Amino acid sequence: MSAGVPAELLAERRAAFQERIGEGIAIVPGARLQTRSNDVDYPFRQNSDLLYLCAWPQPEAIAVFSKDRFILFVQPRDPGAETWTGRRPGVEGACERYGADEAHPTAEFQERLPGLLGDVPRLFYSLGAEPRLDPIVREALREVRRHTRGGVRAPNEIVDPYGILHEMRLYKDPAELALMRRAAEISYEGHHEAARLCRSGNTEYEIEAVLDWVFRKRGSTGPAYPSIVGSGDNATILHYTENGDTLREGQLVLIDAGCEYEAYASDITRTYPVDGRFEGIARDVYEIVLRAQADAIEKAGPGVALTEIHDVATRTLVRGLIELGVLEGDAQELMEQENHTRFYMHRTSHWLGMDVHDVGEYHVEGKPRALEPGMVFTIEPGLYFGAEESKCAEKLRGIGVRIEDDLVVTEAGCDVISKNIPKRIDEVEAWMRS
Ligand code: GLY
Ligand code: MN
Ligand code: MN
Repeated sequence: MSAGVPAELLAERRAAFQERIGEGIAIVPGARLQTRSNDVDYPFRQNSDLLYLCAWPQPEAIAVFSKDRFILFVQPRDPGAETWTGRRPGVEGACERYGADEAHPTAEFQERLPGLLGDVPRLFYSLGAEPRLDPIVREALREVRRHTRGGVRAPNEIVDPYGILHEMRLYKDPAELALMRRAAEISYEGHHEAARLCRSGNTEYEIEAVLDWVFRKRGSTGPAYPSIVGSGDNATILHYTENGDTLREGQLVLIDAGCEYEAYASDITRTYPVDGRFEGIARDVYEIVLRAQADAIEKAGPGVALTEIHDVATRTLVRGLIELGVLEGDAQELMEQENHTRFYMHRTSHWLGMDVHDVGEYHVEGKPRALEPGMVFTIEPGLYFGAEESKCAEKLRGIGVRIEDDLVVTEAGCDVISKNIPKRIDEVEAWMRS
C-alpha cells in the first residue's frame, strides 16, 4: 500500500500533525485482524488513519507521536509466524522503511506507555474508538498520577486526535487526487465489462465477479466496498449485496461498484437496462434521476454546501415524482413535508477518500460546511419503487435507479473524475453494445 503516496509526503503529513498536537502525545492505533472462524481471519485492511500517516501495512500496530518523535509499536520479526502469515518489516523495518524514530514490539506498548505520558499536558486519544486499548490507556494514566508527588505531571486533558487528523484527510493533495483519478479509471473499465454482461439470463454474481476481476487485473486491491449488483426489485434495496439473482428481460440493473487503488476509494453507480435498451416507464424514471444529477453537478463548486446540492437534486426528483403521478401538489411544499423520502431516502453526497464514506465534518460551527478546493465527494441521486410499494402505480414497482459520480472541488468549480462512464441514455445503450 505504500507505493501510492511518496515517503516525503507521509513525512510532511506527520510533521503537520505533530505541529498541531504541540506539547501533547497522540496515540493512533492501527487495525487488528478479525476472526472469520477458528484460525481463519477476514482479509486485512489497515486503518486509514495509520495508512495516512505512515503507510504501515500490517496488523496490531500502534503509532505514538510527540512534537518531535514518531514511535511505532509493531509485530516484531518472528520466523515461525512469518512462515504462516507472511514476512514482517518488524521493529527494524519500522525505522528503516517507515520513517519511525523509534520502534518496539506491540507487546511492550502497555509497559512503555506510562513513561511516555509523564509531564505531557495533553493526551490525544480517541476513547472508545479501539476499546481494547482503553483499559491500557486508563491504567497508564493512573500509573502516572501515582507519581505526581515525585514531581511528575500527568496529562490533564484528553482530546480526540481525529479532530485534527480527519480535518487533514478531508483536503486531498495532488498525489492523493492522482490516485483517486486512477481508481476512477479502473472503475470505468470494470463498469464497461459489467455493462456488457447486463443481458437476460446472466447473473448478478457473475457481474460482480467480472468487476472483481477487472479491478484486480488493473492493479487495484479490489472493491472499495461490497459491490452492489441489483436487478429489478433488488435495485430498490440500497445496500443490496447478495448479488444472487438472474437478470430478466425488461429489468434495470443498478451497479454500485468502485475499486480501491493504493488505499483510495472510488464510488460509482450506473443503472443499466437489461438487454441494452431503456424502455417504457423505466426510461422516464431514469431520465428524471439523470436530470437531478445534472442539476446537482451544475450547482456544485467551491462555496456551496452539500445540503444545497442535496436540495437541488431533491427538487428535481420531486418534480419528477409529480410528472410520474406519484406525488401531487407544489414541489416546494412537498419537499418541506418530506413526502419524497419514501422514494428517495438517502442523502445526495458524502465525502470520499481513503474510506468510501470518508472522514471530515459535514457541519462547521453549526452550519453546513461549504466546499473548498481539494475536497472530494459524491453526487448520487436516486429513485426507488420497491415491489411492495403501495403508494405508486404498479408499473413503477420493482424499479430502482441511482446515478453516482465522484467529484473533486477545484478553484473554478468541480471536476467529475468518473465522467467517462456514460450515463446519457443513447451513450449508455451504445456503450453496452461496444
Ligand atoms: N456505495 C455506497 C454509497 O454509494 O454511498
Ligand atoms: Mn456513495
Ligand atoms: Mn455508491
